[in-house]
Amino acid sequence: MATATMNLTLKIWRQAGTNAPGRLVEYKVQGISPDMSFLEMLDVVNEGIIKRGEDPIAFDSDCREGICGTCGILVNGLPHGPDRGSTVCQLHMRRFRDGDVITVEPWRARAFPVVKDLIVDRSALDRIICAGGYVSANVGAAPDGNTLPVPRDTVEQAMDNAQCIGCGACVAACKNASAALFTSAKVSHLALLPQGQTERYRRVLRMVEHMDLEGFGSCSNEGECEAVCPKEIKIAAIARMHRDYLKATLARRPESAAAGFGG
Ligand code: SF4
Ligand code: FES
Repeated sequence: MATATMNLTLKIWRQAGTNAPGRLVEYKVQGISPDMSFLEMLDVVNEGIIKRGEDPIAFDSDCREGICGTCGILVNGLPHGPDRGSTVCQLHMRRFRDGDVITVEPWRARAFPVVKDLIVDRSALDRIICAGGYVSANVGAAPDGNTLPVPRDTVEQAMDNAQCIGCGACVAACKNASAALFTSAKVSHLALLPQGQTERYRRVLRMVEHMDLEGFGSCSNEGECEAVCPKEIKIAAIARMHRDYLKATLARRPESAAAGFGG
């Protein structure tokens, strides 16, 4: 039996460049299969636009299976659309109804300038990683698997945080455009493991200070970030980051260092 197709009205943000004015442009699309992914639907829209000799809608994607973090748009105001724990490339048209009006916009944050249409520049997140999200201590050759015992719960927590794909949805959902969930996930996965201890406090200072430098806002602990994160990173990571940041800040005071503070 043939599956019924859908006719939709899309309102898509079009903006020629970073400093150009932007606006929502309406597109009527017909014959959309419920089995298409949202990005495949945009591909179909673009085919029609190209046939008419117009400029196609620019949007980011790569893996289209929820692992690379490249895609990221607001669908009806929701980062990555209505499904919890998934990216917009995993969203399917069966979540919509025939006749729906769907608004599609780029992430909105001062630290994520629009490059074109639905594409924003998220390199600020890469620069936070460059500020300290790595292990540079020489730990020698790879050890045998069981020579460095780590409690299972700790490993699970570290790996949960390592799942962050750097998509920026947490920033887009936050009224302060804070990157605290992203930064805390990166801080946490290293801070929880033995290999990350040598640089633990230097790392958190550098990453948090760089997050502020890039123009991201402060965390006001409201949890929108956790609600939209496709990898379901928990805001407990932000609390861990704040604890480490406080310890690191106190430890770099001369009187604290003299007293041997810093664990
Ligand atoms: S914390 Fe979640 S929402 Fe934020 S960048 Fe990482 S995966 Fe994306
Ligand atoms: S395109 Fe890779 S996560 Fe969506």
